[in-house]
Amino acid sequence: MTAALPNPTRRVRIDDVELCVHDAGQGPPLLFVHGFPLSHAMWAGQLGPLAASHRVIAPDLRGFGASDVTPGVVSMDRLADDLAALLDALQVREPVVFVGLSMGGYVGWSFVRRHAARLAALVLCDTRAAADAPEAQAQRRKMARHVLEHGTAALAEAMLPRLVSPATAAARPELVELLRGMIAAAPPAGVAAAQEGMAAREDATALLPSIGVPTLLVVGSEDVISPAAEMAAMAERVPGARLVVVPGAGHMAPLEAPATVNAALAEFLAGLGPAGRR
Ligand code: MLT
Repeated sequence: MTAALPNPTRRVRIDDVELCVHDAGQGPPLLFVHGFPLSHAMWAGQLGPLAASHRVIAPDLRGFGASDVTPGVVSMDRLADDLAALLDALQVREPVVFVGLSMGGYVGWSFVRRHAARLAALVLCDTRAAADAPEAQAQRRKMARHVLEHGTAALAEAMLPRLVSPATAAARPELVELLRGMIAAAPPAGVAAAQEGMAAREDATALLPSIGVPTLLVVGSEDVISPAAEMAAMAERVPGARLVVVPGAGHMAPLEAPATVNAALAEFLAGLGPAGRR
């Protein structure tokens, strides 16, 4: 008889909330930080394969998935501090490879500013360094009010066509349904609080030349939210950064093209030393 494996997804108390976290595998730690308004389930294509060689830690951020919600404004700094507290609670003492997608990348900029000593390397998928223009901030605040009054049903319909490429939507309808389920399950107060936090986020463009850890940027060639050209310009500003453009994928490149993204991750991770440093 084989011993039952522990369920890799559990709740962990940090500060004023409990976060739901998927924690599996052994080895150098990889911290996966999801996009808006999703959950750790968006890393479905990465968590299993990478747990063979690494400890994979993938939380639902405050306000999302099965984690607790705090209303009001949840800043990117708050989310980055939550991640540092989560690493403490999980007794992760060595620096981590931070892998963030889109809003997860915005949290990454705060993690670089506030917790640089905990960082071994950075992987930024389908994200932006620029802050929002005033019109985009106003749009986010409007959406925050809308979901608080009417729930998240309309959010899925508005977002889904922009999340994956037309080719992915045609060939992989189950991925669209997975995303629809994550969006529908997102608590309205969590969605609104993160929208307010993203609207208020700092511009990270000036931070890019000071990033002192190995950095990989990944973007779908068809991403209409964080376009490949914008990520190429970001890559030029980060010392030594590598850019991988995933052909045919949209904003959810890791979910849409896991084999390509995992190969890029594996090559990048192999270039880091055994303790996760180059
Ligand atoms: C995301 O995927 O996290 C969002 O597109 C980020 C944003 O709304 O700027």
